Amino acid sequence: MAASALVSGAVVLTGPATASQPPSQITHGKDRPDEPLVIGHRGASGYRPEHTLASYRLAIRLGADFVEPDLVSTKDGVLVARHENEIGGTTDVADHTEFADRYTTKTIDGRSISGWFTEDFTLAELKTLRATERLPEVRPANRRYDGMFEVPTFDEVLDLVARESKHRGEVIGVYPETKHPTHFDSIGLSLDQPLVDDLKRHHLNRPNARVFIQSFETGNIRELSDEVKVPIIQLIGGGAPYDLEAAGDPRTYRDLTTPEGLKEIATYADGIGPGKELVLPRNESGATTTPSDLVDDAHAVGLAVHIYTMRDENRFMATNFRRGTDPNAKGDAFSEYRAFFEAGVDGVFSDHPDTAVAAREAWVAGRGSGIPPPTDWRLNPTQLAVEARTTGGSTWQNPGASSRSGVQPCPGFPDAVPGSGFGHQDPGCEVGDDQRAEAEHGADHHDQADQVGVDAEVGRQAAAHTSHPAVVDAALQTLRSGLHGRVLGHRMSPSESL
Ligand code: G3P
Ligand code: CA
Repeated sequence: MAASALVSGAVVLTGPATASQPPSQITHGKDRPDEPLVIGHRGASGYRPEHTLASYRLAIRLGADFVEPDLVSTKDGVLVARHENEIGGTTDVADHTEFADRYTTKTIDGRSISGWFTEDFTLAELKTLRATERLPEVRPANRRYDGMFEVPTFDEVLDLVARESKHRGEVIGVYPETKHPTHFDSIGLSLDQPLVDDLKRHHLNRPNARVFIQSFETGNIRELSDEVKVPIIQLIGGGAPYDLEAAGDPRTYRDLTTPEGLKEIATYADGIGPGKELVLPRNESGATTTPSDLVDDAHAVGLAVHIYTMRDENRFMATNFRRGTDPNAKGDAFSEYRAFFEAGVDGVFSDHPDTAVAAREAWVAGRGSGIPPPTDWRLNPTQLAVEARTTGGSTWQNPGASSRSGVQPCPGFPDAVPGSGFGHQDPGCEVGDDQRAEAEHGADHHDQADQVGVDAEVGRQAAAHTSHPAVVDAALQTLRSGLHGRVLGHRMSPSESL
């Protein structure tokens, strides 16, 4: 599906696009038609090991509009949620001596990678593994969930989303990404048909389904756009789409984001998913500058813009949004979100969906009033709205804005090196400093029973899979947090009771 707009959850064909009026608003819902989407990136991966049912469930309960499973294939052709097919960094496979002989080296997307690969495991074998935190030094609090959760199938993710939607009385969206499609095609495990089959099984291949399909490659989503009735998003990374590279096509992502390139994308897709640095480029000191033309150019041809990846920690932010010197401490996320909302993005992938939702509420409360940004991101949205009303008047200027020039990935942290462990498309900062992350967990608190229900299921899964005292203890603590967590406004911080 392409060149269309989703308004209030329904697909509406649009007229000619104009730069001044974005024609393709991929919207939140009928009551909030013009607010950016919040997409739970790998679930709520700031708080739980990524791509687990617990991570997706928490994202939904933190208010995400969509959850995002990255998809790869098992040996027996089942789609499972992992960011890459190598699973040594996000599961306990290295501890499973029975799989030691599966360790191997492969060339994936032109890069030599050693480890264990999903395509060498049946689903039954994968189900004996447990997820682990990808960034234990950045998010040490998440390590207590290591060993508790299975690698979920896409089918299980769709089941969860359906259950949570029913429970909440609102339709939660799902935003699957096909990972390494050229590689999986080459080994006879194409991702496309299983993806379509899973969507059909859940009655989600229909025009008004809240589903986006995304990929960094181009060929597979071109083909899928003819087969599926849901919107397609062309992800934009660094370098070139691997399928083009493999075919000897010289085009790069930079070519794809010219006005001509975007026009071409609009023939098969409904939006683009660029790294956030392409919308707010950074100067030589790593601060954001004035917005690029990308949002306007995309909107001019009917493409929505969903940026990745918003994360609360300093190390993932431009220097002007960082607070203090600890790269793992929380930065000024509210100002960062606000800057991107002001730049006109239609959606944000976020590791911390609660922050994204609160930032959106604050931005909406002050939209069009020239209100300065919040000075304290810890304030809740109600407080922010009050603050906005009492300080309104002056027009906020991004303090880091100066000029457009080159990007330095990790300025401000002298020991930082590029590469966050988040995949080559998503450059971040990796720093040697092992300071502990602030163990502050936001949790949706529409009612405490919801949270207790989540945590009861977490505990049940843990009990079903392990008798390890530390894991059981973590489950029990999580349960208690749901029962006894302090309520702060309408939000609760479970870590305060742990
Ligand atoms: O799909 C949007 C964003 O998730 C892309 O980056 O590497 O996290 O899949 P990655
Ligand atoms: Ca992704």
